[in-house]
Amino acid sequence: MLSIPIDIALPRSPHIVTSLPGPRAKAIVERDRAVTSPSYTRDYPLVVARGEGSMVEDVDGNVFLDMTAGIAVTATGHAHPEVVQAIQEQAAMLLHMSGTDFYYEPMVELAEKLAIRAPFPPLPSPPLQGEGSRKTLFPARVFFSNSGTESNEGAIKLARYYTGRSLIVAFLGAFHGRTYGAMSLTGSKTVQRANFGPLLPGVTHIPYGTHASLDYLEKQLFTTMLPPQEIAAIIVEAIQGEGGYIVPEDGFLERIREICDRHNILMIVDEVQSGMGRTGRLFAIEHWGVMPDIITTAKGIASGLPLGAILARPEIMTWQPGSHATTFGGNPVACAAAIATLRLLESGLMANATQMGELLQAGLHRLSQQFPQISLPRGKGLMVAVDLLDDEGKFNPQLRDRILQEAFLRGLLLLGCGKAAIRFCPPLVIDSHQIQTALQILFEVLAEIQS
Ligand SMILES: Cc1ncc(COP(=O)(O)O)c(C=O)c1O
Repeated sequence: MLSIPIDIALPRSPHIVTSLPGPRAKAIVERDRAVTSPSYTRDYPLVVARGEGSMVEDVDGNVFLDMTAGIAVTATGHAHPEVVQAIQEQAAMLLHMSGTDFYYEPMVELAEKLAIRAPFPPLPSPPLQGEGSRKTLFPARVFFSNSGTESNEGAIKLARYYTGRSLIVAFLGAFHGRTYGAMSLTGSKTVQRANFGPLLPGVTHIPYGTHASLDYLEKQLFTTMLPPQEIAAIIVEAIQGEGGYIVPEDGFLERIREICDRHNILMIVDEVQSGMGRTGRLFAIEHWGVMPDIITTAKGIASGLPLGAILARPEIMTWQPGSHATTFGGNPVACAAAIATLRLLESGLMANATQMGELLQAGLHRLSQQFPQISLPRGKGLMVAVDLLDDEGKFNPQLRDRILQEAFLRGLLLLGCGKAAIRFCPPLVIDSHQIQTALQILFEVLAEIQS
């Protein structure tokens, strides 16, 4: 085991001291290759030893600026002291008891905090009387899981259970997870489905984000193949994540709500990637003022500890005891981390996501004017992407992959998504200096590639 003096703060800019990967990283990558599943996808050989805010240090002492947040997870930054303290205190009290069979307060407290923030219709009476009050009627009920895929798995079950219907509509490009139900909703890459069939029957995928797609659903599918009265749910990402950080056309999400209302279909919004403050709102769907029936979340909710949640309107989450449960979901330490995360999101980090996102998009806009290879940016808050294009304006995944490598060598961590996009999903604690540093490195990479 490597021991690193963690009392010394990391620099706030990248600092590369070895060739990459360094000797220790190289050795660990070799050990990893011999023993871990080959199904993992690693773009570059980063072997992380510690993280602090928006910076991570590798095992050789190289320091990187992290624009990935560990796939949009470390919302409050790496090892935020308040999150770490909450974890340490809870760990010393109780590591596990299972919320399925027993009670403990952190799980209740987090459920209350999430429920009153759910973008669902408020319940009429009695009026909300504050978190923790026994008389409070909450606009949501909450089921805790350990991950995004598990949240979506549970949402499918809940939608079928509540409606008594079996069919589901999902979107091409969607990513909802890897377990069988969620994988059946995923429409992102064939490698994620190949050789795994048969998948869940009764799932229909239509293109994402356009009115033309919803026209097709209503005018073609509903009249020929897909009886709307047999559809349990339409599941949609408010902003499509793995599919390319695609912001839907104006009115798209509102129209899904209308279609669902017309046919008594449930609207499930997957906020696993777009939620927990990343777009400047707790849930991205709030940008459109649309109230779904069920929300699934995970990733950023506990700043890095494994936790997911299903939020559903109370009249929908009425399944009977034993119908859905989990040993680990809602673990007390993860709940304590999530409570601290929510507090931090609301005391400045969501606002910072909005401000830093604007700065990032403005800088990417300038880069797109200087370099025809990159598209205009898109996204909301700190969920931003650009596409990489060839001379004819077509997607250029090879160029995207090369940029990811070159950025890594300069100390900037980026991830791809979609066909040829780079996504920017840093910790929400990122500051303006770090945004400028990321843009400067990207500029240098593009300039070198162009020369
Ligand atoms: C929108 C969305 N839903 C679900 C998932 C699956 O989450 P997990 O990997 O925690 O199972 C992801 C993961 O990237 C996601 O982006």
